[in-house]
Amino acid sequence: MNLAWVPHLIVLGTLLGADYTSTDTAGSWCYKDPKCGPETWAALGHCNGTRQSPINIVTPAAVHNPHLGAVSLAGYGDAKKLISMENTGTTVDVHLADGLHLCAQGLPAIYTAKSFHLHWSQGSDKPGSEHFINYKGFSMELHIVHTKNNLNKTDALKDPEGIAVLAFFLQATAHARPSHSWDSFTRHLKNVALKGKKTNLDGSFSLRGLLSSVDLARYYRYPGSLTTPTCDEVVVWTVFPDPILVPLDVVAAFPSILHSTNSDAGPRLQNNYRPLQSLGDRQVQASAALRVAPSSSSTLRPAALIPLLISTAAITWHL
Ligand SMILES: *[C@@H]1O[C@H](CO)[C@@H](O)[C@H](O)[C@H]1NC(C)=O
Ligand SMILES: *[C@@H]1O[C@H](CO)[C@@H](O)[C@H](O)[C@H]1NC(C)=O
Ligand SMILES: [Zn+2]
Repeated sequence: MNLAWVPHLIVLGTLLGADYTSTDTAGSWCYKDPKCGPETWAALGHCNGTRQSPINIVTPAAVHNPHLGAVSLAGYGDAKKLISMENTGTTVDVHLADGLHLCAQGLPAIYTAKSFHLHWSQGSDKPGSEHFINYKGFSMELHIVHTKNNLNKTDALKDPEGIAVLAFFLQATAHARPSHSWDSFTRHLKNVALKGKKTNLDGSFSLRGLLSSVDLARYYRYPGSLTTPTCDEVVVWTVFPDPILVPLDVVAAFPSILHSTNSDAGPRLQNNYRPLQSLGDRQVQASAALRVAPSSSSTLRPAALIPLLISTAAITWHL
């Protein structure tokens, strides 16, 4: 195409209205429209790289690392650190005050939590998680985004380990006990139903409350990317395989209340997950505790366990 035509096309697109803006060339992207969905992201930033996320984690292929003990979270129980909730049009994002610190073996520094958000499908009967475990998805996925040494986002994107994300699955189940924290969270959704809406939080729930009783010693670790454009390959992923069990109405609330545009006549915010990316030549590591899972019919002999227990006990982290 003759480039001289481009300005004319932009003017035409502007005259034609909203349809054009969702497919413009300035890096606008979406999840489901074939014009701006994940198949088109390769041209944006690093999305066509070799260290992309999310992935399917094949647990028998993960390399056991006895040094990977429980992650240590400081400040996550403080409800006052949750400042505001915002509908970005592609997710619901919660902004965090300074003071939430993540420390874990395999991470080269202390990481500070900046925000968290979620991914979901269109209801509780279809997986909406980004990562899969052994080809199985979960109802939703929670991402807590941290930067290394409290770097700002710009600087974190320049460091191959600039960002650490903790990923937790949510699974809708009819038998889940009611969750005060998730009830409080979903009660706020109506205040951010439209894209661009932001609401202050009231200290009624904490991040630790949302995480429920998930075992922080059981996780997979691998090097990957942001799962949205520009898909920067700067993320150290920590994925916890044991889901947070939540009632069906918690999972149903997100796709039914939230909209992806600033009009309540517009489309709902649904299916905001990126498809699986190939692992390539990367290695996924399994934490120490995953080796001694009560659920796994362990082939490990007790004698083989002793050095393992000693090496994990020797490395404890304190903040
Ligand atoms: C993405 O990478 C593949 C494999 O390296 C290549 O064949 C393809 O042309 C790339 N696509 C874009 C849009 O860069
Ligand atoms: C990020 O931090 C660096 C170093 O402190 C600073 O130079 C830069 O202006 C900051 N960028 C933004 C967008 O705040
Ligand atoms: Zn995410």
